[in-house]
Amino acid sequence: MDLPTIDESKRQHTIRKWKLLERYIAPWLQIVSRHFPRAVYVDAFAGAGAWVGHPSGARFEGSPLIAARAGAQVAARREHFRLELIAVEVANRRADQLRALLAPFAPDVREGRFEEEFPAILRQVSDARVPSLWFVDPDGMEAGFGQMREVRQLRSAELLFNYSAEGVRRVVGAAVGQHKQAAALGRRLVTFGFTERPEEPADRDEQERLALFVGTFREWKPLVASMPFQRRDRQPALYHFIFATDNNAGFSIMKDQMWKLDREGTLFAGIPPDPQGRVEAVLEERFGGQTVTWADIHVGTSYHHSKLLQALRSLQRKGLVSCAELPENPDRMPLDHEFSFEPTLGLG
Ligand SMILES: C[S@@+](CC[C@H](N)C(=O)[O-])C[C@H]1O[C@@H](n2cnc3c(N)ncnc32)[C@H](O)[C@@H]1O
Repeated sequence: MDLPTIDESKRQHTIRKWKLLERYIAPWLQIVSRHFPRAVYVDAFAGAGAWVGHPSGARFEGSPLIAARAGAQVAARREHFRLELIAVEVANRRADQLRALLAPFAPDVREGRFEEEFPAILRQVSDARVPSLWFVDPDGMEAGFGQMREVRQLRSAELLFNYSAEGVRRVVGAAVGQHKQAAALGRRLVTFGFTERPEEPADRDEQERLALFVGTFREWKPLVASMPFQRRDRQPALYHFIFATDNNAGFSIMKDQMWKLDREGTLFAGIPPDPQGRVEAVLEERFGGQTVTWADIHVGTSYHHSKLLQALRSLQRKGLVSCAELPENPDRMPLDHEFSFEPTLGLG
């Protein structure tokens, strides 16, 4: 099969995106396969499946293949387990190539628009009552909040959403002063959910807009992390990967993987990476005088969950934090477990 090429120097951010997905999906499958006979992976904007890198000639596999291989690996070890793969791709040549590449994995490849396929897929996943991971990776602004809002209702559904900062800049930016295109742009803004937020000004600052998105995701799922992807030679970020879940263990894994891939970057919307070794001080600084939940602390810092638990224990011993009894394992911490921080004295 003649695979399309990708330019490796211009596609470093894409390669990083695949790396993050690969590093998340394997541990996710480990966990879900322990408790369920099946799980579903939905690739909403699936792409062509594989490329040849230029100039190296190396083969690069895209998101549906990454998921399929990870699923097959787990199934080889745990015979009772199966990962169901649903992939949607609108372009027919890409869908054909993808179907051929995925053939050994018995996938469900649908050629069509995700928006139209979505209701049937949602019903299928909901009826299956098994965990699901939704990868929503549009090129621009094709994916709507409408669909994502529905996904939030599913139990054990996790969402990895590629927020295209460039697509939003292009479309929302173009909306300013270009009346001729207003109707078409209006339709796209509706699909993307902007009109559901009438307060959304077209010229909103990028970070603010991202924070708004992350905030909306947090209304749906308690644990949300986001990570910017950009080309090394270009600012600002091309897109942001937003991950939303209600699973403590899954969140810790994703947060950790994001941290490893993005040590210098701004890991969470608006929150700079935290200085290592100063966990207690950072917690006091950020939450002093407040009562917050485990989910707030986990989302509001870049620290690993074990470090957070250790620091909270120590603060509790010093009388600086009060809370109910803490579990041994941070994965067992209820997301709504409350922590009351004493006001800080501002002594630095
Ligand atoms: C960014 S690429 C996906 C890459 C893929 N997720 C990966 O990581 O390997 C986006 C894909 O979505 C497809 N697409 C665009 N609009 C779509 C729609 N409304 N429904 C489904 N697929 C669509 C495009 O043809 C393109 O192949």
